[in-house]
Amino acid sequence: MRLDVITIFPEYLDPLRHALLGRAIERGILDVAVHDLRSWTHDVHKAVDDTPYGGGPGMVMKPTVWGPALDDVAALSGPAATVRRLESAQPHVPSDAVDIGKAHADGDNRPVLVVPTPAGAPFSQDTAERWAAEERLVFACGRYEGIDQRVFDDAATRYRVEEVSLGDYVLIGGEVAVLVMAEAVVRLIPGVLGNRRSHEEDSFQDGLLEGPSYTKPRIWREREVPEVLLSGDHAKVDRWRRDQALVRTAATRPELIEALQREGALDDRDRSVLDAPGE
Ligand code: ADE
Repeated sequence: MRLDVITIFPEYLDPLRHALLGRAIERGILDVAVHDLRSWTHDVHKAVDDTPYGGGPGMVMKPTVWGPALDDVAALSGPAATVRRLESAQPHVPSDAVDIGKAHADGDNRPVLVVPTPAGAPFSQDTAERWAAEERLVFACGRYEGIDQRVFDDAATRYRVEEVSLGDYVLIGGEVAVLVMAEAVVRLIPGVLGNRRSHEEDSFQDGLLEGPSYTKPRIWREREVPEVLLSGDHAKVDRWRRDQALVRTAATRPELIEALQREGALDDRDRSVLDAPGE
């Protein structure tokens, strides 16, 4: 997979070079290019924003800068052709390159253009799974009051544009949102996580929050690990984990339980656990 990020703060994306993502870069599973939006400015001040039509506070990012930037990043031409790729922060594995990318399943080869904005559709595990199958994701980081809307209307000829929000709060810019989304997506690419089951059992994978986890020692500060986890009976352990997930989800995210009920995804045993938690 190739990730391109367009931002006025390229150094903000440096955390992408660390840990799991850094390892994916080294192994050739992931290629990350961070583009400085100011490479596409035309004036001595390298201005990227201007006052909003219709008045109001703040500044709006200019279409005359964003348009050419998105053209070049789609085509990997102009300043985008020579951009420095992120290198892993520290070597984790021997560098034997693995093939990157695959064609998109429905034959649409336009990259996805992700626009982080509090006005977007909610980003979720489903979004991350969908994007994990893409060959290219391009992230456009806005600052100030956002980017001139015509940029995205125009970009729809070269990109599949998705405006997405992390949640109902306002960040200063899209950069931190990109770090969050990139991490959620990249860990789902086959070969990135060591242990496949660890994301099969993630929160949200089956519509439930993940239950509690334990490790050694068996007794810590007089608190014991639940007996069932020491039993070696995998069916019993799986059932216990689902029960814990159901109880936790009902307590903190009841709307997720309601959604599973509507989908008919709960069986009699699930319902009895929810009716009488702890029995
Ligand atoms: N940019 C500013 N606020 C945001 C949010 N909540 N989600 C995604 N991008 C943002």
